[in-house]
Parts: sequence; C-alpha cells; structure tokens
Amino acid sequence: MAGRKFFVGGNFKMNGSIKMIKEIIEQINNAKLDDNTEVIVAPPALYLLKVQETLSAPAQVSAQNCFTETSGAYTGEISPSQLKDADVHWVILGHSERRALFGEADKVVADKVRAAIKAGLGVIACVGEKLEERENGTTEEVVQRQLEAIAKEIDEDKWKDVVIAYEPVWAIGTGKVATVEQAQETHAGIRKWLAKTISDKVAQETRIIYGGSVNGKNCRELAKSEDIDGFLVGGASLKPEFIDICKSGS
Ligand code: G3P
Repeated sequence: MAGRKFFVGGNFKMNGSIKMIKEIIEQINNAKLDDNTEVIVAPPALYLLKVQETLSAPAQVSAQNCFTETSGAYTGEISPSQLKDADVHWVILGHSERRALFGEADKVVADKVRAAIKAGLGVIACVGEKLEERENGTTEEVVQRQLEAIAKEIDEDKWKDVVIAYEPVWAIGTGKVATVEQAQETHAGIRKWLAKTISDKVAQETRIIYGGSVNGKNCRELAKSEDIDGFLVGGASLKPEFIDICKSGS
C-alpha cells in the first residue's frame, strides 16, 4: 500500500429499508473501526440524511450518484452542492450499473467527477471492463479510456480528491471475484497510467480500490497486494462480514 490509507466503501445500491439500514449502521458504529482505514457507506439517496445523522466517525456517508449542475429544473437529480450542504462528503460516480443501465458515457461520468470535486466532494470513480472486453484482451484499453475522460476534466491537484475503484463488470454480483493476480495486474497498470499521464506523485498517492464479489473470505488475500488499496463492496456490505472487510487492511 506504500503509505496510502486503506479505503473501504459499502455500496448498498438499491437495497435496504429504514429498519435494515439502521441495523447495518449500528453494526458499523459498534465495530471499533481502525482510524487507519477510511470507511464510507453509500445507502440509497432516500436514506442519506438519516445515515449521515446516525453514523459514527471514522465512517462517513457517501451518495451513489449526483448530477453535474448546482440547481435547477432537473427532476429526480441531486446536485453535488446539495450533498455538500447535507454534510455528505463523498459520492460514487461512474458505477458500471449507471453506465450500462442509465446510459452514462465516459464524458458524462467525467463531467460529474469535475462538478463533484468543484463542490468539494471526494469522488469514488468507478472503471472496469465487461467480460467480452477482458476476453478480447482490451481491459487496459477500456480502463484507460474511462480514466482519460476524467483526466481531461480535472487538474492534477484534484486527483487527491479521487479514489479509483476498479470493478470488472463480470465480477460484480456474480460471486466470480477477480483473482489476486488479475486485480493486481490491472491496478498496477492503472498506477503506471497515472504516472505516465498525470504525475508520479498522483500515481503514488491515489488509492486504487477493487470491487467485484469481495467478501469476508477473499478480502485479506486481495488486500495483501501492493496496488490494492481497499475495496468497494456491494452485496457483502449489507452483511456483518462488511466489518471484516473494513478491517482487512490492518
Ligand atoms: O460497487 C460495488 C460493486 O459493484 C460490487 O458489487 O455485490 O459484487 O460486491 P458486489
């Protein structure tokens, strides 16, 4: 990890209820999380304020999405400045489900990243290839194209506000986790790309976390890899094993 603070995010996606989320937050609050790990939980937007009010430090709340504009006639959207106003300091952007199901192209994601950072949010920017792209050997190309779009929109000094989440689409919710070698290889490739395209400093300091069927059993092995700085967790973030994943960096 080379001095980078371990980072674990729980992406609840469109799951949970008031009761269920209350129980999960209680578990996290009682878990005695290590200050050396940054933990964020991203409930559905409806529950953000409640979680923000009840979640104890060091854990923080995150949105799962936001729009580019500050305010206006954008029915159904939430602006980055509204998140900031509500003391929600993180947002997940570019998740593959947003890209695939809601048509978010690279440029849309990159514009959202720029707007979120401008509003003072930390961004968990998701990238990752589909199964056919891995099979035809274009993983690196796809991931770099997604990152390139973001790099065009933000200055070098803004990368400190970005955590990159590498989430191979074929590993999301499938139980088919990337092998340690596959994940490490792609993470190292991303770091190399950051060094070449942005700077050595950004490459060394940016957290690159892995997402895709991470659970309480496979997290420790993955966490040992030099370039895996944490996890973005879907299904397992709704279960008690999320606490083990949060503790897997120490
Ligand atoms: O953002 C987290 C994610 O997409 C991984 O989901 O359920 O495979 O852990 P899951």
